Amino acid sequence: MNIPRIEFKQISKTFSGTDHTVPALDDISFKVMPGEFVTLIGPSGSGKSTLFNLCVGLLEPGKGEILIDGEKPKKRPGLVGYMPQRDLLLPWRKVLDNVLIPLEVQGLPQKESRQRALEILPYFGLEGFENEYPSALSGGMRQRAALLRTWLMGRSTLLLDEPFGALDALTRKELQNWLLKVWQEFERTVMFITHDVEEAVYLADRVIVLSARPGRIKTELKINLPRPRRQSMIADPAFGKLEKELLQELGVDA
Ligand SMILES: Nc1ncnc2c1ncn2[C@@H]1O[C@H](COP(=O)(O)OP(=O)(O)O)[C@@H](O)[C@H]1O
Ligand SMILES: [Mg+2]
Repeated sequence: MNIPRIEFKQISKTFSGTDHTVPALDDISFKVMPGEFVTLIGPSGSGKSTLFNLCVGLLEPGKGEILIDGEKPKKRPGLVGYMPQRDLLLPWRKVLDNVLIPLEVQGLPQKESRQRALEILPYFGLEGFENEYPSALSGGMRQRAALLRTWLMGRSTLLLDEPFGALDALTRKELQNWLLKVWQEFERTVMFITHDVEEAVYLADRVIVLSARPGRIKTELKINLPRPRRQSMIADPAFGKLEKELLQELGVDA
């Protein structure tokens, strides 16, 4: 039970171009335990997305290693569910056909896949919308559909890269509450990238702060606020204190 879902061990990554190199990550070590909700925050270009790409094996680290469920997998792709930044639904596919993509890729029988998707659709607030095209959905619903697609990869660990970044404030709050609910109900482990301090604190058991490029771990902040979280907690002094601490670490006033 005490085996981390993900363990980054002294990860460094430098991108080499033709005439210059970009050090993106430097000496990153941390663990994500089963059932944890960890948010990752840092300035733009601090290597957050790169960290996820390393985790799923789209990139290889220059130094260090990444363990998934305690092992160094020979092949990482498919071991964790991944929702990339700007993960868009395909406009020419209906909602159900969009969310079935990962199952199609895994080669699961179509009937079984559809059944599995239809069963979980209500939890994602998409019941009755399975035969609509993405253009018929609200922004919040589109994001939930994209999350469902990641969810159906069937992994216990989810990597979500700024999934709510483009939503209006109210929809964003609704989706935060909803995500926390399904995370608890289905006992998943989540790593969530955001550049929003309030969101980072609201969702997390632990916030990891990266420095500007190259990304290093500046600090880790434990969030001991009670669960279930409520949006009204944001007005509590304890919440404000945590936000202030984060802003200080990020070098933004306070
Ligand atoms: N495939 C790539 N090739 C070259 N440089 C890259 C590549 N991916 C990311 N970078 C660079 O690495 C740095 C970190 O990028 P990224 O991980 O996207 O940061 P973040 O998600 O924190 O904004 C940036 O300077 C970016 O330009
Ligand atoms: Mg990014």
